[in-house]
Amino acid sequence: MCAAVKTGAVRSLGRFTAGLAHDLRNPLNAAQLQLQALLRLSSVGLPLFVRERVLAVNSELCRISELIDDYMSLSEPGITRLERLSLLDISASALTHLVDARLGSVTLENRISGELPAVLADRTRLTRVFIHLLKNSLDALPRADARIRLDAGTVFDSEGNRSMVVVRVSDNGTGIDEETLPQIFEPFFTTKAAGTGLGLTLVKRVILAHGGVVSVRTQGGDRGRKPSASHGPPSEDFTTIAEFTLPIRSI
Ligand SMILES: Nc1ncnc2c1ncn2[C@@H]1O[C@H](COP(=O)(O)OP(=O)(O)OP(=O)(O)O)[C@@H](O)[C@H]1O
Ligand SMILES: [Mg+2]
Repeated sequence: MCAAVKTGAVRSLGRFTAGLAHDLRNPLNAAQLQLQALLRLSSVGLPLFVRERVLAVNSELCRISELIDDYMSLSEPGITRLERLSLLDISASALTHLVDARLGSVTLENRISGELPAVLADRTRLTRVFIHLLKNSLDALPRADARIRLDAGTVFDSEGNRSMVVVRVSDNGTGIDEETLPQIFEPFFTTKAAGTGLGLTLVKRVILAHGGVVSVRTQGGDRGRKPSASHGPPSEDFTTIAEFTLPIRSI
């Protein structure tokens, strides 16, 4: 599919899902309210096995709600609520939301410092950016010695002021070959049997809407060459580094 056709397809999909999401929101919210009412009953004796199932249903409804948000941001990144956010908090919250059985066998380091300047960003969208990048890393990891690292730093402008934060998600997965790399931000491009190919498209839209940029560096199929980070220290023996920037002061 050529790029123009894909972009048109994304716009149509965005319009369609925005309408669909609008229609789904009300019944979804109503269902979640009912579940919350049920959970409140637990204090007066809701059996444990019922409570567990209610919680499980609630978490599936939350997942549907997140997917709706993702698809809506295809047509409109929806940066509506800007807040001063700590990247440490957002990354920690993404890790909490990332429910994935594979995490148990991965060495996952969050080296993002609480000392970093706050960024002005949309909490939900930025959390989803972390989740999409972490999921890509999880999908690529080897069975043994699987490692993911989150880290972040600041970039100085020509006057010596800290102007941007740079966030990196690094993994020691398969890497991306030279033929694949130029296509990874294209809507619907995927190398996975069950992938939609929209993860990095959404990441890019959200980061651009916040005034940042996103890039992915990889060893590109040459297992002997390490990817270099564009900002800050090189990431040891990681094969792929997804990196995005966000302005510190303004959007
Ligand atoms: N960390 C990574 N390591 C290896 N390949 C990657 C990595 N991140 C992205 N890719 C490649 O980029 C492609 C596009 O990624 P993208 O997140 O847009 O879609 P997806 O992961 O295939 O599907 P979806 O995110 O919609 O479930 C992937 O199919 C994969 O080939
Ligand atoms: Mg993905």
